[in-house]
Amino acid sequence: MPGRPPDHQRPHRALIAMEAPLTTEGTTMADTQKTATLTLDGQTYDLPVYSPTAGPDVLDIRKLYGQANVFTYDPGFTSTAACESAITFIDGGEGVLLHRGYTIGDLAEKSHFLEVCYLLLYGELPTAAEMEKFETTVTHHTMVHEQMLKFFTGFRRDAHPMAIMVGVVGAMSAFYHDSIDISDAHQREVATIRLIAKMPTIAAMAYKYTIGQPFVYPRNNLDYASNFLNMCFSVPAEDYEVNPILSRAMDRIFTLHADHEQNASTSTVRLASSSGANPFACIAAGIACLWGPAHGGANQACLEMLREIGSVDRIPEFIARAKDKNDPFRLMGFGHRVYKNFDPRATVMKQSADEVLELLGVENNPTLQVAKELEKQALADPYFAEKKLFPNVDFYSGIILEAMGFPTSMFTPIFALSRTVGWISQWKEQIEDPGMKIGRPRQLYTGATERPYVNVEDR
Ligand code: CMC
Repeated sequence: MPGRPPDHQRPHRALIAMEAPLTTEGTTMADTQKTATLTLDGQTYDLPVYSPTAGPDVLDIRKLYGQANVFTYDPGFTSTAACESAITFIDGGEGVLLHRGYTIGDLAEKSHFLEVCYLLLYGELPTAAEMEKFETTVTHHTMVHEQMLKFFTGFRRDAHPMAIMVGVVGAMSAFYHDSIDISDAHQREVATIRLIAKMPTIAAMAYKYTIGQPFVYPRNNLDYASNFLNMCFSVPAEDYEVNPILSRAMDRIFTLHADHEQNASTSTVRLASSSGANPFACIAAGIACLWGPAHGGANQACLEMLREIGSVDRIPEFIARAKDKNDPFRLMGFGHRVYKNFDPRATVMKQSADEVLELLGVENNPTLQVAKELEKQALADPYFAEKKLFPNVDFYSGIILEAMGFPTSMFTPIFALSRTVGWISQWKEQIEDPGMKIGRPRQLYTGATERPYVNVEDR
C-alpha cells in the first residue's frame, strides 16, 4: 500500500496495564500473583505475571500469538526471560551475583572451584564426603582418548587455541559415544563429569600444540587448578613445581567465571540443546559464541588494548576515542549488558591482581599501572558515568593471566574451561525441565512480499 508505513513503524496501539492479584492455573513457574492486561485494537488480553524469588516480575506472553496474532519484538533479548532457572541470579543495579544464593565474593574467598561446580550442578554445597567423591570422580576423568592426540595434530600450529577448542570439544561426541544419549540420566551425568574434567586437559593441549611442545598428561596427585598449570607449563626436560600462590589465583579465576546466568554463550548452549543435540556439540557451540570480543574474547582484547596504550600519558587519547561516535573503538573490559554498577567479579579480580603481582614481585607491572589509571580516569569521566559503564570481569583478569605466564591467546580458552560448568549446569537444568521446548524465535519481517519469479533473460 503506497505511503503506508510498515506495521512496526505505525503509532503505538497496544496498552499493557498491571493489576493485582490473580492466579493462573497449570503453570510450573514461579508464583503468579498478578496479571497484566494488554489492550490491542480494542481487545483485551490477560497476561499472567510471575513473581520470581528475586529480580523483576516476568510477564508471560506465551499464549499471546495464539490469542492476539501478534509477536513481541526484543532483539538482543534486553527484556526477555527465555527460560526459568534456579542457578544464578544477578542484580545488575546493585552489582550482586549469586550462585544458588551464595555471593560470588563469599565463594571466591571461602570456597574453591570444584566445590562451586558441585553447587552449580546439584544446587547445594557438598558435605565433606560428597566433595571428596566428586573431586575423585573428576580427577579420574581428566585424561582424553589417546586417539584425540591425532585430532589435535591436524590443526596448523598457528591456529588460535579457541579454534582448536571449538573443534576438539565438538569432536568429543565422536570419541565418547557412551555419553551422548541425552534421555539417559546416567549418560548425562557422565558427559557432565567428562566435560568438567577434560576441559583443562584440552585447553592445555591446545596451548602446548600451538607452541610446539609435547602434550603433558594430567596428574592425579594435583588439584584441579594445579593440574592445569602443570599441563600448561611443565616440560619433560625438567621438574616443574606448581607455585601454590598461582594455583590459588588460577582457582579463583575459574570460580569467578563459572557461571553468569543467561549470557550469550549460555543462551547458545541452551538453544543448541533445545533441539536435542548432544552435550559435546552444545558446549562446542557455547565456546564458539564465547570467542567474540564482546563476550569472552574481551579479556584478550583488553590486554592487547592496555599494551597498545602502553603508558599512562596516552590514556586521555584512548578515552577520547572510546567516546567518539565515529570511532568504533571501545574500552575493552568496560561495560556490561546487565551490570549497571560495579561487576562484583571485577572487584575480586582487581584484589587478586594486586595480590598475585605483589607476591610475584612484579607490582610495578606497567600494564597494571595503565589499567588502574585508565579505570580511575574513565570512572571520573561523565560519559562513562552517564552510561553506567564500569570495569567488568575481563578488565583485570588478563593482567593476572599474563603475570602467570599465559599468552593472550590463552585467556579466552581459560574463560571457556571455567564457564563449562555453568554451561553444563544450565544444559542439565533445561533437559530436566519437563516443559522444555525447541527454541524458535519469531521475527519482524521487513523483506519483500510474494512476487513473481523473473527469468534471467528478462531481468
Ligand atoms: N566503551 C565505550 N562505550 C561503550 C562501551 C565501552 N566499552 N560499552 C558500551 N558503550 C556505550 C555504547 O557506545 C552505547 O552508547 P550509545 O547509547 O550512545 O549508543 C552505550 O554505551 C550502551 O552500549 P551497548 O553496546 O548498547 O550496550 P550492550 O548492553 O548492548 O553491550 C557490552 C554490552 C559488554 C557488549 C559493551 O559494553 C561492550 O562492548 N563492552 C566492551 C567489551 C567487553 O568488555 N565485553 C566483556 C563483557 S563481560 C564478560 C562477558 O560477558 O563475557
